[in-house]
Amino acid sequence: METSALFDFIRGPLAWISFIVFFLGLIFQFYRFFNLTKKNPHVIYNPRPRKKITGGSVQDFIKRASLSVFGVNPVMVIVTTVFHLCLIIAPVFLLAHNMLLKNAIGISLFSFSESFVDTLTVIFLFCGLFFLLRRILVARVRAITDWNDYFILFLATAPFITGYLAYHQTFADHYRLVISLHILAGELMLMAVPFTKFVHMVFFFVFRFVIESEYSLGKGDRTW
Ligand code: HEM
Ligand code: HEM
Repeated sequence: METSALFDFIRGPLAWISFIVFFLGLIFQFYRFFNLTKKNPHVIYNPRPRKKITGGSVQDFIKRASLSVFGVNPVMVIVTTVFHLCLIIAPVFLLAHNMLLKNAIGISLFSFSESFVDTLTVIFLFCGLFFLLRRILVARVRAITDWNDYFILFLATAPFITGYLAYHQTFADHYRLVISLHILAGELMLMAVPFTKFVHMVFFFVFRFVIESEYSLGKGDRTW
């Protein structure tokens, strides 16, 4: 295949395919989840009644927070929150993406300034570096890390590394190559979401709302 034909394929059909795989894949995972779980016919034991979780004074709140994961590992909670906020906000509210969206389907979302999204990109990459170093340097994390964890981290950061290089025209003579790699990296990440660890994007919420005793935020009346 000629280079330009490959370029056109990556920019055109593959972009559509990746969005379709992303959305249909998520729908399929929802369907699978409800197929694998069933309503629990027995009385539901809720270890933490909601009244206690939500009520209380400021001191109670601080006490509860200190017993939660925030109290145990606050740096990790902060880094992971910033990482995920940047992961969603940067690509969704990026001017270049929204212009492409407008061309493709005629509608676009609000866009932040390019310099602001560029800053979010850098912050995101530092958070990714933090996760990488943590996996390499902290013995108890290294012990439960395998190549898949590094691969997932690479898949999540590759669109940001290549997006950054494209925006800054770091390899100006090879812009076409860099932007193709960026688009490809973004498409691979999107298609990977429903079928890899990235699927925690939906199950993080679904489990907590509908599975009994999974620290249920909701009624939690389903069981495996
Ligand atoms: C699906 C196909 C995608 C296309 C066609 C696409 C296209 C583009 C284009 C044209 C740019 C601007 C480059 C420039 O200014 O020269 C860009 C930048 C960027 N893209 Fe994408 N992108 C895609 C997917 C993604 C995904 C999935 C992510 C992240 C989850 C992502 C993250 C970024 C970021 C963060 C930048 C800006 C970097 C910066 O300003 O420092 N892109 N993208
Ligand atoms: C919006 C919904 C999402 C939520 C609520 C969420 C939540 C979480 C949580 C709780 C963790 C564990 C953090 C820890 O180790 O303490 C995590 C890790 C991670 N998430 Fe997400 N996530 C979401 C979406 C995504 C998406 C869409 C991606 C990428 C496509 C992603 C990529 C990652 C990566 C790479 C890690 C592991 C970092 C590491 O320890 O190496 N997340 N996420």
